[in-house]
Amino acid sequence: MDDATLLGELAPEAESLYARHLDVATEWFPHEFVPWERGRAYAPDEPWEPADHPMPEGVRSALFVNLLTEDNLPYYFWTIERVLGKHSIFRTWNRRWTAEENRHAIVIRDYLTVTRAVDPVALERARMAQMCSAVVPDPEHVADSIGYVALQELATRISHRNTGKLLDDKVGFEVMVRVAADENLHYLFYRDLVSAALRVDPSGTVQAIERQVRDFAMPGVGIVDFDSHAAAIARAGIYDFAIHHEQILVGVVMRHWKVDTLTGLDADGEAARDRLVRHIERVGRVARRVSERREENLASAP
Ligand SMILES: [Fe+2]
Ligand SMILES: [Fe+2]
Repeated sequence: MDDATLLGELAPEAESLYARHLDVATEWFPHEFVPWERGRAYAPDEPWEPADHPMPEGVRSALFVNLLTEDNLPYYFWTIERVLGKHSIFRTWNRRWTAEENRHAIVIRDYLTVTRAVDPVALERARMAQMCSAVVPDPEHVADSIGYVALQELATRISHRNTGKLLDDKVGFEVMVRVAADENLHYLFYRDLVSAALRVDPSGTVQAIERQVRDFAMPGVGIVDFDSHAAAIARAGIYDFAIHHEQILVGVVMRHWKVDTLTGLDADGEAARDRLVRHIERVGRVARRVSERREENLASAP
């Protein structure tokens, strides 16, 4: 099915998912979550030090990456607009989504600045570098785009929430929980839109899901030193192979979209479904090996 036809077919579902979203989304104010009383003015020659706000490096990496990911919003808006924006309901949704997403960078940055949890100079330099490079995942077609964003919104929800849990700061925890609650609603919108696409065009959609699962990258790939931050985030247990396998691939692709029992697939759809299921099983085996190795290392650590 071509993109214009699929968009038209999905529009009624998008209308009702958008209405549901407006119904359950609650208004909130970033400034109410920020512990302003902990802040003070810093002179430019007063450099940041980790001791300003001690925390495990994996948690600090997660805060850094999570905020920079939120900062890249203009490019996510643009990629979604380019693919889905040819239909008015999706334009409406994309604007609302963008307005909600923008709050995330506001509240996380204010929290980090006030609490000195992250080096503000390194953070600003990294923001400039990332936004000048404008590297973001950029799926080309409608089914790929909604498939990717569904998985990414859930991954982001998990990452924000797990970061909050490890912060050892009730206020910081509440910031991250609030942001994660927004991500959850975004996830539900896209998850159910993909379910509709699977009904309208099962073969095209399962092929798109297979491509997006196979090449899945977190939206922060354009961040300087992303790989080393991602490794620290995984070691901290915030987002790793096992979480990706269990909560994203099994939780959404297998259990919610039920790709293994889809009917009405053509030969290309069947082949993509087989590759997808095999890939998920393979990721599960790797995830188990990685977890076992980490437990062994922990057990043998002095
Ligand atoms: Fe966000
Ligand atoms: Fe989101």
